[in-house]
Amino acid sequence: MKEITVVVPTAEDMRELGLRLAGLLQPGDLLVLTGGLGAGKTTLTQGIGEGLKVRGPITSPTFVIARVHPSLAGGPPLVHVDAYRLGGFAELDDLDLDASVDESVTVVEWGEGLAEGLAEDRLEMIISRGDGPGEERRVRIVGVGDRWADLELDRG
Ligand SMILES: Nc1ncnc2c1ncn2[C@@H]1O[C@H](COP(=O)(O)OP(=O)(O)O)[C@@H](O)[C@H]1O
Ligand SMILES: [Mg+2]
Repeated sequence: MKEITVVVPTAEDMRELGLRLAGLLQPGDLLVLTGGLGAGKTTLTQGIGEGLKVRGPITSPTFVIARVHPSLAGGPPLVHVDAYRLGGFAELDDLDLDASVDESVTVVEWGEGLAEGLAEDRLEMIISRGDGPGEERRVRIVGVGDRWADLELDRG
């Protein structure tokens, strides 16, 4: 397990973090985002989508629990899941996501305690309010499994 914490001063920086992260992502990757309402989970996902060059818009899936954003550049699609209303792993499993997890980049908001069953390796991103002034956030990024053992997010 490997982890780093990044300070994210603004919403734009959160997008930028997602964009940078997208450069490291490959099919089969699972990202589990944790953080309260308004933490910045969707904003981060928008940056990831931009980096992956998928078709948008990426929004909070209010009524739709999962959305597939196909790549516009021949890369993997982004599967964006909002697990907030899901009652448990059985319901997440019922979405039949695991059929596509291998070929997609899957990002699950509110997935803590649920999404772990989708793949053994995952990147957990825990967003909290920063100590600094204004809109600062802190993102704890924890890589679980071999996939993330050599994660070098702090490099450029
Ligand atoms: N540092 C920051 N990181 C992320 N979002 C921020 C930040 N500062 C302000 N914001 C704002 O906070 C809100 C986060 O909303 P959203 O990404 O939908 O959160 P969530 O999906 O976690 O509920 C957006 O309006 C965004 O512009
Ligand atoms: Mg959201």
